[in-house]
Amino acid sequence: MALVKAFTQFVEPPSSPVTDVAQGAAPGARPPKLETVQMGFFYGLNQALRDVSLKINERAVTALIGPSGCGKSTYLRSLNRMNDIIEGTRVSGKVMLDGEDIYAKDVDVVSLRKRIGMVFQKSTPFPKSIFDNVAFGPRIAGLTDKAKLTEIVEQSLQRAALWNEAKDRLRDSAMALSGGQQQRLCIARALATSPEVLLMDEPASALDPASTSRIEDLIFELKQNYTIVIVTHNMQQAARISEVTAFFCMGRLVEVGQTKQLFTNPIQKETEDYITGRFG
Ligand SMILES: Nc1ncnc2c1ncn2[C@@H]1O[C@H](COP(=O)(O)OP(=O)(O)OP(=O)(O)O)[C@@H](O)[C@H]1O
Ligand SMILES: [Mg+2]
Repeated sequence: MALVKAFTQFVEPPSSPVTDVAQGAAPGARPPKLETVQMGFFYGLNQALRDVSLKINERAVTALIGPSGCGKSTYLRSLNRMNDIIEGTRVSGKVMLDGEDIYAKDVDVVSLRKRIGMVFQKSTPFPKSIFDNVAFGPRIAGLTDKAKLTEIVEQSLQRAALWNEAKDRLRDSAMALSGGQQQRLCIARALATSPEVLLMDEPASALDPASTSRIEDLIFELKQNYTIVIVTHNMQQAARISEVTAFFCMGRLVEVGQTKQLFTNPIQKETEDYITGRFG
């Protein structure tokens, strides 16, 4: 079977008590960390997402795949209200974090974004030192204690697997780092505010294979402690790092399932066509 052949390199993710697909989850399974219910999204009059109901498991990796323009980034950005900054946009349906509507009137968006960090496709370090990049979020949150800041910077760089390369150059400009290092710096910066969820929009697409592999190893490590949602165009990557994969097409969630099942035995014809390269 072409499908099976295409994914013979599939790596079985280690079993975890929370990797049950939360969609129609077994009794006793943990509630989802994030959930969208019949979610829609509009750029002015243009509807970019419709009727997206998806549960995202805690401390696991969920991959979002689908053809260009299908709404993956829009969906990701609506999970921490990053779309709010785009004028004329509107969300319908519900987006919930730990069962609470993140679009409710009383929600403080700054604290929400502290809980749900984001890493973008192009690394976006600030033109500041490595230290100041990582300390940025905690400082904005009001932390001034130097010893505490130093501790957070070291811990975040450790978690982002950049400490060894950066520890002797913390005062150097972040712009002097390589592309792969800059992306790990952005991950460290996102981790510095102790988020619960990490949203990643094609975090490795601009990187060489070695740096990509480091980011993938890192994601594998991070999922012990964080809920990760990652957009990727690389289906082998989705197969390697995620437990659950959601396939989007033209603003709709076509299919979601255990990654292995979705790649080897998809239910929908559209999914099969996409993963076998027949379109998209
Ligand atoms: N800022 C914006 N203003 C208006 N329309 C937008 C904006 N951003 C995205 N869109 C539209 O919303 C739809 C979904 O775009 P989105 O960027 O979410 O797709 P995507 O799946 O991430 O694509 P890609 O794989 O190319 O990154 C597209 O039709 C796009 O043109
Ligand atoms: Mg995108």
